[in-house]
Amino acid sequence: MSEKWVEDRIRAGRGLFSNFTREPEGEYHTDQELKKPQPPLAKAPMTGDTRDLPHDFSGLQIDNDFLHVINSRKSHRVYTDEPITMTQLSYLLWCTQGVKSVRGKSYATLRTVPGGGARHPFECYMAIRRVEGLEPGLYHYLPMTHQVEFLGALDRLEEMIGRTLSGQRWAEKASVVFYYSCVFYRAEWRYGIWAHPTVLIDSGHITENLYLAATSIGLGGCAVAAVDGHDADRVFGLDGQEETIFYAMPVGTVAPENQEAEDAFYAFVKEQGL
Ligand SMILES: Cc1cc2nc3c(=O)[nH]c(=O)nc-3n(C[C@H](O)[C@H](O)[C@H](O)COP(=O)(O)O)c2cc1C
Repeated sequence: MSEKWVEDRIRAGRGLFSNFTREPEGEYHTDQELKKPQPPLAKAPMTGDTRDLPHDFSGLQIDNDFLHVINSRKSHRVYTDEPITMTQLSYLLWCTQGVKSVRGKSYATLRTVPGGGARHPFECYMAIRRVEGLEPGLYHYLPMTHQVEFLGALDRLEEMIGRTLSGQRWAEKASVVFYYSCVFYRAEWRYGIWAHPTVLIDSGHITENLYLAATSIGLGGCAVAAVDGHDADRVFGLDGQEETIFYAMPVGTVAPENQEAEDAFYAFVKEQGL
């Protein structure tokens, strides 16, 4: 690979930041300013094979000590391979993408996470391995009705998980892997050339809420940016142009006795004297 190629990629990455401050050449209007039709607030069901999610979380043992939850949050990559309940899954989805209300007739969703211009251009897909009451396979979250829809079973689901997370095979024991896509135009309609940094910033709100929500009910997970988006798009049937998967988070059951195995992930720090 040439030095120029590397330089171009680095410049493209840095460009995401400068898009905020750089004035456009000449007159520029976003599609919202041009009064073009607004795209839907969420993706339409893909199969319509829906499962209702429980919305009563009173049966969950939730750690309500906020500071304790903040201080206990950490990345977990070792799971005990137990199933989680539908209510736990529902709670995780609610805390990360749940729709609390709609602003105007259908101008914006107000969700449990903040989002630039309330665009929320994300979709959440799941590889479900071990959730009580749900057949293992591929799912899609429907935030407007707080349901999941079954997209289909998959032979070698675990192999797919490790592969789409760029060979991070520890994730294969998660109860569920959340895959986040961006539907670009949902943000671009309002923000045009300024949309993309906002999308990346907003994705952090989702996974931080997921970390905290998982911690508050005794589960653990780890954000994963090293996603093979091309592969994941193919698995979930996305075109990779208008919508692409770019972020993921495996979540599973964890146990304190696994701390040593967790620490092994960072053994290189000691070995290399870092
Ligand atoms: C955007 C982002 C991407 C990450 N990607 C990965 C990843 O691909 N693989 C991994 O093992 N950990 C990944 N992590 C987890 C970080 O390594 C972890 O948050 C960091 O080491 C600090 O540890 P802590 O979360 O326990 O505080 C990621 C975290 C974030 C926020």
